[in-house]
Amino acid sequence: MSLGASQLPLPAILTLLGVLLPGPGGAQISVEPPKAIIPRGGSVQVTCIATCDEDTFFGLETQLMKREVAHGNNRKTYELSNVQEDSAPICFSNCHNNQTTATTSLTVFWFPERVELESLPHWQPVGKNLTLRCQVEGGAPRPHLSVVLLRGEEELSRQTKVNLTEVTATVLAGRDDHGANFSCRTELDLRSEGLGLFQNVSAPRQLRTFVLPVTDPHLAAPLIMEVGTRWLVNCTLVGLFPASEAQVMLVLGEQKLEPTVKYNDDFLWASAWVEAKSEEEGTHQLTCAVILGNQSRRSQQTVTIYSFPAPSLTLSQPEVSEMTVVSVECKAHAGAMVTMLSGAPAGPPASSVQFQLNVTAEDNGHSFLCSAALEVAGEVLYKNKTLKLHVLYGPRLNEKDCPGNWTWQEGSQQTLRCQAWGNPTPKLDCRQNGTGFLLPIGDLRPVKREISGSYVCRAKSSRGEVIREVVVNVIYHDNNVIIIVLVTALVIVSVVLTGAYLYNRQRKIREYKLQKAQEAAAMKLNTPP
Ligand SMILES: *[C@@H]1O[C@H](CO)[C@@H](O)[C@H](O)[C@H]1NC(C)=O
Ligand SMILES: *[C@@H]1O[C@H](CO)[C@@H](O)[C@H](O)[C@H]1NC(C)=O
Ligand SMILES: *[C@@H]1O[C@H](CO)[C@@H](O)[C@H](O)[C@H]1NC(C)=O
Ligand SMILES: *[C@@H]1O[C@H](CO)[C@@H](O)[C@H](O)[C@H]1NC(C)=O
Ligand SMILES: *[C@@H]1O[C@H](CO)[C@@H](O)[C@H](O)[C@H]1NC(C)=O
Ligand SMILES: *[C@@H]1O[C@H](CO)[C@@H](O)[C@H](O)[C@H]1NC(C)=O
Ligand SMILES: *[C@@H]1O[C@H](CO)[C@@H](O)[C@H](O)[C@H]1NC(C)=O
Ligand SMILES: *[C@@H]1O[C@H](CO)[C@@H](O)[C@H](O)[C@H]1NC(C)=O
Ligand SMILES: *[C@@H]1O[C@H](CO)[C@@H](O)[C@H](O)[C@H]1NC(C)=O
Ligand SMILES: *[C@@H]1O[C@H](CO)[C@@H](O)[C@H](O)[C@H]1NC(C)=O
Ligand SMILES: *[C@@H]1O[C@H](CO)[C@@H](O)[C@H](O)[C@H]1NC(C)=O
Repeated sequence: MSLGASQLPLPAILTLLGVLLPGPGGAQISVEPPKAIIPRGGSVQVTCIATCDEDTFFGLETQLMKREVAHGNNRKTYELSNVQEDSAPICFSNCHNNQTTATTSLTVFWFPERVELESLPHWQPVGKNLTLRCQVEGGAPRPHLSVVLLRGEEELSRQTKVNLTEVTATVLAGRDDHGANFSCRTELDLRSEGLGLFQNVSAPRQLRTFVLPVTDPHLAAPLIMEVGTRWLVNCTLVGLFPASEAQVMLVLGEQKLEPTVKYNDDFLWASAWVEAKSEEEGTHQLTCAVILGNQSRRSQQTVTIYSFPAPSLTLSQPEVSEMTVVSVECKAHAGAMVTMLSGAPAGPPASSVQFQLNVTAEDNGHSFLCSAALEVAGEVLYKNKTLKLHVLYGPRLNEKDCPGNWTWQEGSQQTLRCQAWGNPTPKLDCRQNGTGFLLPIGDLRPVKREISGSYVCRAKSSRGEVIREVVVNVIYHDNNVIIIVLVTALVIVSVVLTGAYLYNRQRKIREYKLQKAQEAAAMKLNTPP
């Protein structure tokens, strides 16, 4: 009470006088009300009442602005206005030269002008203590002021009779605190003074908490990538919170990849396609960084992008005729070595291997295999190339695949084979000399005698024509004797039967004629005369 201190001399002297010159009996002055609580800048009426029997000199001693509003026989009422601070005006009286005083206590109240929660860290690690600081400026009377720190509506701490400008509280940050709103509230409790409970609340501040495990993310990517291939590289991290707020960066060399990020409660999975391009040949660092809060975790891996075309396998001539010499050559691309070429004598790896071959018809369709090796990042890779040999030969008709003499029993079941060989495949045509009948190649069931004969088979291709004679003999038994015997027998039987018939007929005619004669004779006898 600075004002009280500056006022001290006068009341002190008056009090001292009162003590030194004590009055005849009882107090000669009193004040109404003895105490009052008023809002800052407000007004109050104070009445001084003198109890001296004679006219006394009395009044109010104060530095406040005062105005006498009522005047009675031995009482005076003053209005004190614009009261900014607590003060203690004094009523005094002078009775029989005995001065007495009475003091009234004026308490000023006002609400805090500033209640503010200091800004929270941008991100708060879970498991670390967080200090909440509330700035409270102004407000009186302080012994009636409490400061409450809140999480949402929940009271975290309450400090009463606060006489400082900053109130702090420590909370252990948890996952539950992520997204929680913190605030601070002042309570000026004047209920004991017949007034109310006055609250002022700071603006809320939202907290973001996070957990980033000490382990680094797991990076899954191939160590080597061939130019022209596409790979899905993955980066995962377990145990982070809140996974949805984490940022992931996947970088290959200088190139920033565009990862697809998926997550659940505490698991993060990022994947991105990497296309190995020829201009990126060489080694690169693949980095995965997970950023959460103000921290980050990263993993790195070396990726080698290489180019390894298959070796080139060539023939000296694209089309080869039998009995000619061709050279087979296999060349590896820069950096690679030919380790094997089928048909060539084994030797140390070389950038190119070649050999000569006198091709025969049997070589048609034969495959050559060339294998080349390349070492990439300590790993030996192989690439193969095959080449099929096409030998031009023929046409050919030989005894083995087109036998020239078939002899069969009539009616038996046989298979007639005739196959022409050659590359290109020849056209085969077998016809009977003269008649032009086609040779029935394939299953014959049964063999008929009509097919016997001599045929000429022609195999024809762009490389020429060959002819082969095929003779088919069908053996059968002559059945003429039986037919003659049967015909003879038939003739004899017919002659005998005809003879028998004729004899029988003649006999019947004779019998008839005899009968007719008898009947005529009988009629002559019976006729009356
Ligand atoms: C003055 O008043 C006090 C009481 O207020 C009393 O004790 C004292 O005797 C009085 N003195 C005289 C001279 O009357
Ligand atoms: C947090 O603060 C409390 C006291 O407020 C203390 O007991 C505790 O050990 C602290 N915890 C950490 C992790 O600092
Ligand atoms: C108020 O402040 C004074 C010093 O200014 C200190 O001595 C006192 O303990 C404080 N009271 C409270 C309740 O903090
Ligand atoms: C915190 O306050 C913000 C607005 O200020 C609100 O959107 C959010 O829902 C609040 N959070 C909680 C947990 O109440
Ligand atoms: C503090 O609260 C009171 C009511 O409780 C209100 O009248 C006053 O304006 C508030 N002060 C501020 C700075 O918000
Ligand atoms: C990345 O994940 C996908 C899907 O789970 C999988 O198919 C792929 O093989 C993974 N990539 C690597 C390099 O492990
Ligand atoms: C993260 O922020 C905290 C304070 O919020 C600080 O103590 C810590 O050093 C920061 N960490 C990094 C890696 O910046
Ligand atoms: C290729 O081989 C055949 C027989 O196998 C032979 O007659 C011919 O002369 C050979 N050609 C060459 C160029 O050696
Ligand atoms: C290539 O040939 C080698 C033998 O030379 C074999 O071991 C390897 O499996 C082949 N690779 C492919 C892809 O065919
Ligand atoms: C055909 O073969 C039969 C017996 O199998 C033989 O008697 C005949 O002489 C042969 N004919 C020819 C032209 O080879
Ligand atoms: C086929 O007939 C021709 C004459 O038309 C003859 O020159 C040739 O020798 C005959 N071939 C056979 C196999 O009978």
